[in-house]
Amino acid sequence: MALQSLRGRSAFSSSRAAPKAFARVQRTCRAASVVASATAVKAPSLPYRVGHGFDLHRLAEGYKLIIGGIDIPHTKGCEAHSDGDVLLHTVTDAILGALCLPDIGQLFPDTDPKWKGARSDIFLKEAVRLMHEKGYVLGNLDCTIIAQKPKLSPHKENIRNNVSAILGADPSVVNIKAKTHEKVDSLGEERSIGCHAVVMLIRKDIA
Ligand code: CDP
Ligand code: ZN
Repeated sequence: MALQSLRGRSAFSSSRAAPKAFARVQRTCRAASVVASATAVKAPSLPYRVGHGFDLHRLAEGYKLIIGGIDIPHTKGCEAHSDGDVLLHTVTDAILGALCLPDIGQLFPDTDPKWKGARSDIFLKEAVRLMHEKGYVLGNLDCTIIAQKPKLSPHKENIRNNVSAILGADPSVVNIKAKTHEKVDSLGEERSIGCHAVVMLIRKDIA
């Protein structure tokens, strides 16, 4: 029972036994918090870790559209410091998120000239390296690309195979979905492309 609800009980607070009982609850809560800290210390060896990634890039003429490392024929591409691969950035952040590591922008700052025009598989490969270093393998990955245009279904298999290869994973655990944004907001007005991804990592000893 929470301290708050015990405090709120008038019979309890008016009773002579209240201070003793209240102290007992406080002791229990303190003990529980010791258990919680002990659990927190064990966290790095969690059997499963879930991570979420999100990214969005402005679309503009004069850029190539690269999604999942695949060149997609289109009139516009993603504005970015790197190659602007919205899917690979999202997956990188999902893996880093699952590992509770800093995000892609912190690891590869867009102020660093080293990453100007860089291929985004470099970022994802580094996230995969960190995943192995921390003792995990990919369980599965589920991605949703939000693009009003172009139609991505003809490219989905290519994208899926390429992302799986970068991850060193079987394509059966990699899912690539696409949605329009029903013509609303920057995504729907073809001014941007976005992406979401959820990843599950499995500790190597139980995978
Ligand atoms: O029908 P619903 O509103 O759920 O989805 P939608 O945004 O209208 O997209 C319909 C289908 O088109 C999706 O299920 C995707 O398979 C495909 N799609 C695509 O191939 N490329 C896009 N850029 C957007 C959607
Ligand atoms: Zn990005």
